[in-house]
Amino acid sequence: MKSSIDRLYNISNKYSKRIIGLMSGTSLDGLDIALCDISGNGKDTSINLLNFTTIPYDDYFKNEITFIASKKEVELERVCMLNEAIARKHAAMINECLIKWGINHSSIDLIASHGQTIYHAPEIFHKNDYYNNATLQIGDGDHIATLTGIITISDFRQKHVAAGGEGAPLVSYGDYLLFAKDQTNKILLNIGGIANLTFIPANANFEDIISTDIGPGNTLMDKWIKREIPEMHFDNNGEMASKGKVNATLLNKMLSHPFFSLPLPKTTGPELFNLAFIDMAIQELDIPAISTEDMLATLNKLTAVSICNTINKTIPRNATVELMISGGGMKNNALISTLRNELQSCIYKDHTLHADAKEAMLFAILANETLSGNESTFGKGSPHLPNISMGKISFPN
Ligand SMILES: Nc1ncnc2c1ncn2[C@@H]1O[C@H](COP(=O)(O)OP(=O)(O)O)[C@@H](O)[C@H]1O
Ligand SMILES: [Mg+2]
Repeated sequence: MKSSIDRLYNISNKYSKRIIGLMSGTSLDGLDIALCDISGNGKDTSINLLNFTTIPYDDYFKNEITFIASKKEVELERVCMLNEAIARKHAAMINECLIKWGINHSSIDLIASHGQTIYHAPEIFHKNDYYNNATLQIGDGDHIATLTGIITISDFRQKHVAAGGEGAPLVSYGDYLLFAKDQTNKILLNIGGIANLTFIPANANFEDIISTDIGPGNTLMDKWIKREIPEMHFDNNGEMASKGKVNATLLNKMLSHPFFSLPLPKTTGPELFNLAFIDMAIQELDIPAISTEDMLATLNKLTAVSICNTINKTIPRNATVELMISGGGMKNNALISTLRNELQSCIYKDHTLHADAKEAMLFAILANETLSGNESTFGKGSPHLPNISMGKISFPN
């Protein structure tokens, strides 16, 4: 144990660290593995992406997770077994990657593992006075550390909840460290299964940033297409949506859900934005059947409009804002072209980080802060952005 603590202490004192960031989002498309060199800490952090891949999940593994994810009632035995199995799968993917990249395990200082969210339960959803905000990620860090031989920091979201937050979005911490350096207003928009944003005003202190979930990113489109055409996982480049016509009645019905008018910041997940959400809206309207293309056009528009509305609520009137987009939704041309048409006050910038790797990279930055960060970096904090270190440390032996 002492030798592990000594090793950790030595790593914490290194100016540059080699950290593998891992992200597995609600889309369940695969594990993002970002090998990063990170130097410095706090606002002096710099990050260099050395290698990146997303290893897709096989259908069996994806189905096992889908079987329990975001469900109110599940087989507890399956949750217990998946906590171990997800970690084992992630560790195997890291080992495979390092061999493929020709990189020695001993050259890696840390793994930063997000795990797999299986349930997100902020108070605004569960509305049960007895309980606080809660969120649960599985894929145990001890397993990853033992199976890779690399010290692993995992389970980042719990302390955020303990300190008064909802456990999300956490990317805002890394967004602040990397992007609050100059005189421009910025929106960092991530379109994963769920969409979220960080607004960083010019010359911002940490207290000035706004960080919130928006609503559905790709999740409703993905789920609908999968139900209609089981061999498809998503609407490639938004092609089907482009061929369809928006059903305005259904769009407005879905947009009237109270989540969209809740004040910012707020968080959400597939517990709310799922097939039942769409089916219920259709049932309540009692409208005739809608073609797959028209449904995709409508769901695509729902994502776009909710993103635009949230951005417009966030940015000051008449301000010029740079917009950088990351996440798989970037590849949905129909979605991006609606955003470009409707968000005329934003200047589009290519992401300075690799857009698919961004989230995994930002978890690597969180791990770096946990080991080497300065207590004053995140100011006084606030309930939704508390000033804390995040993650649990697992030793390989
Ligand atoms: N070529 C593409 N065209 C349209 N959508 C895409 C494309 N590639 C990926 N996506 C979307 O991006 C999603 C994955 O995005 P990602 O940022 O990894 O989300 P998460 O963090 O939820 O895993 C896919 O499920 C899919 O909906
Ligand atoms: Mg993903």
